[in-house]
Amino acid sequence: MQARTVRDYIRTIPDFPHEGILFRDVTTLFADARGMRLCVDQLLAPFAGDRIDAVAGLEARGFILGGAVAHQLGCGFVPIRKKGKLPGRTFAQDYDLEYGKATVEVHADALEPGARVLLVDDLLATGGTARAGIALLERLGTEVVGCAFVVDLPDLGGRAALEAMGMPVHALCSFE
Ligand code: PRP
Ligand code: ADE
Repeated sequence: MQARTVRDYIRTIPDFPHEGILFRDVTTLFADARGMRLCVDQLLAPFAGDRIDAVAGLEARGFILGGAVAHQLGCGFVPIRKKGKLPGRTFAQDYDLEYGKATVEVHADALEPGARVLLVDDLLATGGTARAGIALLERLGTEVVGCAFVVDLPDLGGRAALEAMGMPVHALCSFE
């Protein structure tokens, strides 16, 4: 029997959070010891030889992955949070979602200008969230060396939009 891949651990829930959305649920991946290790190891593999000064994670599931990736790379972790959650002075960026609108924020003093940052999230759909995160990291004067995701939904165009900006995109699996 073949070993399960990262994709095999992900569960699909129809009509969440709205009718017509096929929700790719990574909690089943995170809950499995082998699945969790596999996905963290695979997320950082292309960047392991690079100088990475920090991992930035997108709320909420990017925190779970980003913390583990930062630990493995031996660097710090910076949260990019939904509006109103960070206590210090922040920069904010509005963006469109597959199903709605939102704003993300980062602490204005989270990183030194010139820091090399890896952006991590669970899933890439339209790319609106990742592009907002990149915009915030660039406002801090940092260099985003790449973005790593567990899931890519290529039909929603996020990967194409990021690659058109010249951003390296690493995704472990895709769902058409
Ligand atoms: C999901 C997912 C990504 C984002 C991807 O988060 O975890 O962050 O959507 O979509 P996009 O590429 O179209 O921007 P969600 O906004 O559902 O927030 P949550 O993690 O707080 O539930
Ligand atoms: N975020 C945006 N679209 C999503 C989807 N289809 N499944 C899980 N998370 C998402």
